[in-house]
Amino acid sequence: MAPAPSSPSSPDSSSGPARLVVLVSGSGTNLQALLDAIAADPGYGAEVVAVGADRDNIAGLERARRTGLPVFVCRVKDYENKGGRAAWDVALADAVSAYQPDLVVSAGFMKIVGKEFLNRFGGRFINTHPALLPSFPGTHGVRDALAYGAKVTGCTVHFVDDGVDTGPIIAQGVVEIRGEDDETALHERIKEVERQLLVDVVGRLARDGYRIEGRKVIVP
Ligand code: GRF
Repeated sequence: MAPAPSSPSSPDSSSGPARLVVLVSGSGTNLQALLDAIAADPGYGAEVVAVGADRDNIAGLERARRTGLPVFVCRVKDYENKGGRAAWDVALADAVSAYQPDLVVSAGFMKIVGKEFLNRFGGRFINTHPALLPSFPGTHGVRDALAYGAKVTGCTVHFVDDGVDTGPIIAQGVVEIRGEDDETALHERIKEVERQLLVDVVGRLARDGYRIEGRKVIVP
């Protein structure tokens, strides 16, 4: 197991693969793409050490269990009478910390994290969003792009800051919107691009390190 990185914004690839904790809320196909890339390439540079979720009974957790990975579930509603959202945020941060990740990946994780989580993982917490940010942030990025009449949309992998889908952009992929698209069809085509983009980005960050200067992410 690789130790935590010497700098929070640059995994130390000299000490072994970067440790990833992946957070999911749904089908987990982005998680699966990471797991497949890791299994296929011993030089990928990263390993998934645990998978966390904000709900039970989702395919994303099943995928992790099938791979033999430790999983944890941290549900907001379990903290309703125990400090609310802030307490949930601390519990999530604690659960993730237990696996000493170099990078935390939100791969379809449908919760906004709070202050404590960002204090601990800011600068090494990445998210994938199904639109070309800064256009169409939020929960309905695919639907909103379609409703707006945009001709292209896509996906964005970015670091998470304290806004909603506002953090520094690492990479983007473009997808054409077709006249016959509905939300499901468009989202499926976005996800094909998104999975590859996420795999590429995580591997590059893990192998090559990176730094964040203001809004710019620099990968050598
Ligand atoms: C992705 O499109 C992600 O950007 C969005 O939800 C989807 C998750 O898909 N927030 P999956 O669970 O990885 O299949």
